[in-house]
Amino acid sequence: MARSRWIAAVLSPALITTVITAAVFTIPKAASAAPVTYQSESATISQGVVESNHTGFTGSGFVNFDNVTGSYVEYTVNAAAAGRHSLVFRYANGTTANRPLDITVNGTPTVSGLGFPGTGAWTNWQSVTTQVNLVAGTNRIRTTATTANGGPNADSLTVDVAGTEPPPGPGDTPVAKNGQLKVCGTKLCNERGQVVQLRGMSTHGIQWYSQCVKTASLDALANDWKADILRVAMYIQEGGYETNPRRFTDMMHGYIEEATKRGMYVLVDWHQLTPGDPNYNTSRAKTFFTEIAQRHKDKKNIIYDIANEPNNVSWANVKRYAEEMIPVIRAQDPDSVVFVGTHGWSTFGISDGQSETSVFNNPINATNFMYTFHFYAASHRDNYLSALSRIADRVPVFVTEFGTQTSSGDGGNDFAMSQRYIDLMAQKQIGWTNWNFSDDSRSGAVFKSGTCAGSNFTGTGPLKPAGVWVRERILNR
Ligand code: GCU
Repeated sequence: MARSRWIAAVLSPALITTVITAAVFTIPKAASAAPVTYQSESATISQGVVESNHTGFTGSGFVNFDNVTGSYVEYTVNAAAAGRHSLVFRYANGTTANRPLDITVNGTPTVSGLGFPGTGAWTNWQSVTTQVNLVAGTNRIRTTATTANGGPNADSLTVDVAGTEPPPGPGDTPVAKNGQLKVCGTKLCNERGQVVQLRGMSTHGIQWYSQCVKTASLDALANDWKADILRVAMYIQEGGYETNPRRFTDMMHGYIEEATKRGMYVLVDWHQLTPGDPNYNTSRAKTFFTEIAQRHKDKKNIIYDIANEPNNVSWANVKRYAEEMIPVIRAQDPDSVVFVGTHGWSTFGISDGQSETSVFNNPINATNFMYTFHFYAASHRDNYLSALSRIADRVPVFVTEFGTQTSSGDGGNDFAMSQRYIDLMAQKQIGWTNWNFSDDSRSGAVFKSGTCAGSNFTGTGPLKPAGVWVRERILNR
């Protein structure tokens, strides 16, 4: 979290909830029968019409919802087994406006506002997928237009009848595929030495937003967003670790286990911010990381970030801290990757009016570590983007925080600038975690306010614009 953001954080004690408890996470049976497609023109239609004037549909036509709120298409589908099933809607939307649909299953509202963005033309057909629980046997899946534009043109619904689509099986998760990571040259590599670009989300401060890090939201992050990595932002001051080391260490243990069950990497973020000199917390950091590394050293999915955003401190002092801390972690977990924040709120000094050469000229004396870089696209413009490009060519770097708005985590989204960063990070295989996986009121929190009190985290319905945007960029690899 960049400078000044914490000032505006909501500090309601009511928001401080206890750690997620051991969540039951069952690996579903693998699908064993082919999916079945149901044509929309054969479904029950209310206030819509069957048409065939735009090519590319399957079956004998498609349903035009007509431009009316409340028009619906209801499919009667058969499921061989109860459990989680994926629904794939084939549709076209020749406009540029999203045409969200609400989904009910057997009369129960299940997904609100599933997004059907523009496909470029009424003859371009694309798919939107969501997952719902079905009962064995007959199920009624109703899709209802939620705006006066009506729905998209609906071609078909394909359901995996046998059982469930992901959650991914044990062989299919990011950790199962990549194993223990290591730094290879300037990149992050999997255990077979192939370069990997991890993409995922950072929590907000767990002293404020632990209610957003629970079974349903983590299931969504792993299975619906298909994230590789969860960054757990544990503040030290500002109501964090120092207020109750035992409680926060236990929270971190819990989140590590939850990420592990879902086959995601987990970034243990020592979120020092104020004061900005990480040396202020060295003895706390030693206690915390020793216990975390001791307990989880045999896992393959742990990355340690020892300093979130050093600020108002020289690079030499950050380096001194890193060289003291890295051996402490390695004493417990010798093959672990460690991340180190850089001065100027993890900008390699650029937000301090310096340049990345302060790090290049005085590198940390250690192995298997990466420096971190943060940016907020509406604040940090071309000079930061080109610095990140130069940095990635010289030293290992991971973007542990970024936002599509200003460094306050709020304000308008600059998706065009953000996309330039995304493209650079894809090109140079720079891993990233986006700020932040919460329902905080600011624009950088992916969920709409109030989402975390409930249990619906899948699809685009619960998401703010920044959430829709970043979910798409995690999903589309
Ligand atoms: C156009 C298009 C229809 C579509 C409609 C809409 O009329 O030809 O197929 O359903 O727009 O806006 O929904």
